[in-house]
Amino acid sequence: MPNWVRAAHVDDVPADCGLELVIAQRIIGLYRVEDQFFAMDGICAHQGGPVAKGATCGKVVTCPWHGWQYDVTTGKHELSEIRQQTFPIERRGDELFIDMEVPGT
Ligand code: FES
Repeated sequence: MPNWVRAAHVDDVPADCGLELVIAQRIIGLYRVEDQFFAMDGICAHQGGPVAKGATCGKVVTCPWHGWQYDVTTGKHELSEIRQQTFPIERRGDELFIDMEVPGT
């Protein structure tokens, strides 16, 4: 069952970096790509760095610790099959909601 949680107002999400949020005890990176929004696990799969605080270029975010890059629209690492968890986003007016349902629960 979906667990929609209000995340942010659309104007809170910058265009050139992620917005780091703590939602349901998880660190989440919220991203704007053109006029679409995406949510991805904010803890880097490499060594736990703050990828949610990384700079973005288009749909690619770069982790500030060692430079691993991920496609925020899919969570996929740019050079391997590693994937960050992504979360569905729903826009309701100017508010963004993230489905924090944990698969398998
Ligand atoms: S912790 Fe993110 S690149 Fe190393």
